[in-house]
Amino acid sequence: MAEWSELLAAARKAQASAYAPYSNFQVGSSILADGQVFTGCNVENASYGATVCAERNAIGAMILAGAKHIERVVVVTPSKSPKTPCGVCRQVLAEFHHHGDFEILSVGSEGAEQCILFSDLHPQGFGPKDLVD
Ligand code: THU
Repeated sequence: MAEWSELLAAARKAQASAYAPYSNFQVGSSILADGQVFTGCNVENASYGATVCAERNAIGAMILAGAKHIERVVVVTPSKSPKTPCGVCRQVLAEFHHHGDFEILSVGSEGAEQCILFSDLHPQGFGPKDLVD
């Protein structure tokens, strides 16, 4: 499995591509899925509401490549303290949670880290299983 250090380097590289002229809050994300590393950055929009977060762009890259089994997630933000994915991103991550639990490593600008299991971050969420029981 890809090391956290490799995933962190990939997320930092993605962060450098962030398009965040409105918030100036550049975010990078990497996702290890089916043994491959996918990355995304936030892409803001003048309408504000059309902004897409780094995590969801990384998921788009993952799906485009045909991968679906998330094993690890990294989120890098410019804030001093580490930040976890927003509510919308949690819901989108939940779509791919049924293959097994995974950890999310959040890293702040000065290296402060937080690692949390997705099931702890987003307990009792609504997902694909809830449409079929
Ligand atoms: N953002 C992300 O990309 N991921 C998160 O987990 C939180 C927020 C982005 C959205 C927006 O471009 C900027 O950060 C400020 O909210």
